[in-house]
Amino acid sequence: MTVRIAQISDTHLSEAKPFFNTNFARLGEALHEAAVDLVINSGDISLNGADLDADLRRAHGLHEALDLDWLAIPGNHDIGDSQGIGSKQPIDEDRRARYRAVFGEDYWAHDIPGWRLIGVNAQLAGSDLSADADQSNFVRQAASTANGRSIALFVHKPLYDASPAETALDGRFLPPAARGGLLSTLSGATLRLVACGHVHQFRATDGGGWRDVWAPSTAFILPDFFQPTYGPKVVGYVDHAFHANGTVESQLVRPPGMTLHNIETIPEAYGDLRAHKH
Ligand SMILES: [Fe+2]
Ligand SMILES: [Fe+2]
Repeated sequence: MTVRIAQISDTHLSEAKPFFNTNFARLGEALHEAAVDLVINSGDISLNGADLDADLRRAHGLHEALDLDWLAIPGNHDIGDSQGIGSKQPIDEDRRARYRAVFGEDYWAHDIPGWRLIGVNAQLAGSDLSADADQSNFVRQAASTANGRSIALFVHKPLYDASPAETALDGRFLPPAARGGLLSTLSGATLRLVACGHVHQFRATDGGGWRDVWAPSTAFILPDFFQPTYGPKVVGYVDHAFHANGTVESQLVRPPGMTLHNIETIPEAYGDLRAHKH
């Protein structure tokens, strides 16, 4: 038995700035054609849900309209960014409450044959919100009761570039303290896959005992002057074939008709990149 899950990411959907909503419509057609069993959005669902309820509602409505089973975890643009990295939109109680009012739980577990999928709120990890401890307890419990199932972790930001020992503190990867906390809650579990988004590039690497897969954005890529190249700068999604024997195959899919937007050419979305950080 194999369950096919489409990991979509960084859809950046909006009510007032719908630059990327057309790509989402093309994506939806491709997901129906592929007859996937479940869709998981790994965050940055909305363009600016961190400040605008309308973007959260529009993004949620477009997912409902897919008419497919779906789950989501929040990205920095949905619920605010990690604290302590200088973001103008850090996660706080209000942002988290507004996200949950539209999307429901910001962390969850979902079982499929042979696997337990755990979705977490990356920006909550290591924050001063009391729910950070609740999430840690939830993940620890979900991991320790997996009863032989393989674990797949869905998290908006990559845990690291090349190694869990990295100490860089920036917006691109999970802050080291958050990463350490998250991995400690999973110690002893059979972690086989860490699936993330956020960088808007595709990458699949092995190391640390599990496979790290970065889903590309469905919306746009970032220019080279702003962001190094880790893998293909493309738009599309990742098809994960989860087998009941605890193995998984993950493939990049680039549906026809999706436009490869470069955010450098759309300053109306997030401003001039040469002056701001994504
Ligand atoms: Fe993003
Ligand atoms: Fe992000």
